[in-house]
Amino acid sequence: MDISEISWNQELIDKYNINGPRYTSYPTALALSENFSVNRVASTLANSPVQLSLYIHIPFCHKLCFYCGCNKVVTRHQHKADIYLDYLAKEMALYRTLLGARQINQLHLGGGTPTFLTEQQLSRLMALLHRYFDVATDAEISIEIDPRSCSESKLRHLRALGFNRVSYGVQDFDQQVQIAINRVQDAELIRNHVQTSRELGFDSVNLDLIYGLPYQQIKSFSASLDQVIALSPDRISLFSYAHLPSRFPGQRKIKDEWLPDAPLKLELLQLGIKKFTDAGYQFIGMDHFAKSDDALAQAQQQGRLQRNFQGYTTAGQDCLIGLGASSISQVDGVLWQNAKDVSDYYAALDNDQLAVVKGFILSQDDRLRAALISQLICHFFLDINQFSEKCALTSIGFDFWNYFADAKHKLASFVADGLVIVNANRIEVTALGRLWVRSICACFDAYLDDAVTTPRYSKVI
Ligand SMILES: C[S@@+](CC[C@H](N)C(=O)[O-])C[C@H]1O[C@@H](n2cnc3c(N)ncnc32)[C@H](O)[C@@H]1O
Ligand code: SF4
Repeated sequence: MDISEISWNQELIDKYNINGPRYTSYPTALALSENFSVNRVASTLANSPVQLSLYIHIPFCHKLCFYCGCNKVVTRHQHKADIYLDYLAKEMALYRTLLGARQINQLHLGGGTPTFLTEQQLSRLMALLHRYFDVATDAEISIEIDPRSCSESKLRHLRALGFNRVSYGVQDFDQQVQIAINRVQDAELIRNHVQTSRELGFDSVNLDLIYGLPYQQIKSFSASLDQVIALSPDRISLFSYAHLPSRFPGQRKIKDEWLPDAPLKLELLQLGIKKFTDAGYQFIGMDHFAKSDDALAQAQQQGRLQRNFQGYTTAGQDCLIGLGASSISQVDGVLWQNAKDVSDYYAALDNDQLAVVKGFILSQDDRLRAALISQLICHFFLDINQFSEKCALTSIGFDFWNYFADAKHKLASFVADGLVIVNANRIEVTALGRLWVRSICACFDAYLDDAVTTPRYSKVI
């Protein structure tokens, strides 16, 4: 059955809408512990793959969006970014010493708001990157853009600096919603940016939307979705609003009673899935859609799709270095995270130390589960024989279902409700089950038993 024809019922939503991880890594970032020696970073990097992906976190934003769950610093002081770049330079120099000359084939600037940086600051950042790393000539270079902090001139500048992918935060075009989230931005501005991006030859344009925001209604959200489709982006992210006011104080400005209730939130999601798939977008999974000729969609069609801290990706699952405050790295089965607070990040680098505060080394069992969860979340099926061979389970005499007996038990109710089909050689997430792929993956998560209902994770829908 086609995913756009499915109508999910509230009973299923209530049954499976647990707090669950998004599996941008396995184990999730919550497993990272302070009981981790930074020496391990050095030894991991010494043997790391030749090609790496790089993520750089720019935490600054000009204004607070009330819904925001990102690690950001809201400020009007532009010079703070100069200081931050000084420290990024120190961090890059430390990594350069540990890595030697490695090629970067993917570079992503995220935030906060990378376009908080002026053109001059962006030039400086790219000059630093080229000084300390060997950025491949055909590297994918992408940036998250707050449309309000961008201009035609800045877009031209980004293109000249080598950026070839852009992602704009739209969230919703409706004015009442925009006022409630403290993010009023003109549709015309976004239209112009998208058009200019095309004229300048950016390879891919992504638009971020959120469903579940205050005052969203079917009629107005439907109009927003139509506006998005009319702009014809290559990719669309449709995030579920994660409302965790205890973790993100800015969200306390959003009153619970302004939010759509659970049935309406589900209708908004269904509407998004229907409209985007009817318009020819491939539902990549979780919250992503892409045109069928887009690199992400093609990677999925060819079984090469991966997932890392930036979400779905064509490369960089186990060879990603994160620079800047709060960034997470994952290289060859080792995870580590920088200090979240900018001042802690600066303090470590003042001592000529990497700002790593936490880490985790995957065991053999973790690696196995990580590979399995990645396959399910990226491709919605698992060929058990192929997986057992690839992970050498067969050669050491392990039977897949013996090894994952606990998971089989947990999967039983998903099977009974038609969300998963399990047979001797295959696990398949059905079209109906795709919404719950996170919960299905959670059956294989060895860390989750006691954490599954904790409010530290957002709800699946
Ligand atoms: C770092 S922001 C994107 C760049 C830029 N700062 C902007 O806002 O346009 C990343 C995206 O995360 C999403 N986001 C932020 N907070 C969220 C939340 N609480 N729930 C769901 N999505 C959220 C938004 O769609 C946002 O565009
Ligand atoms: S959504 Fe983007 S612009 Fe808004 S506060 Fe968060 S990071 Fe900053």
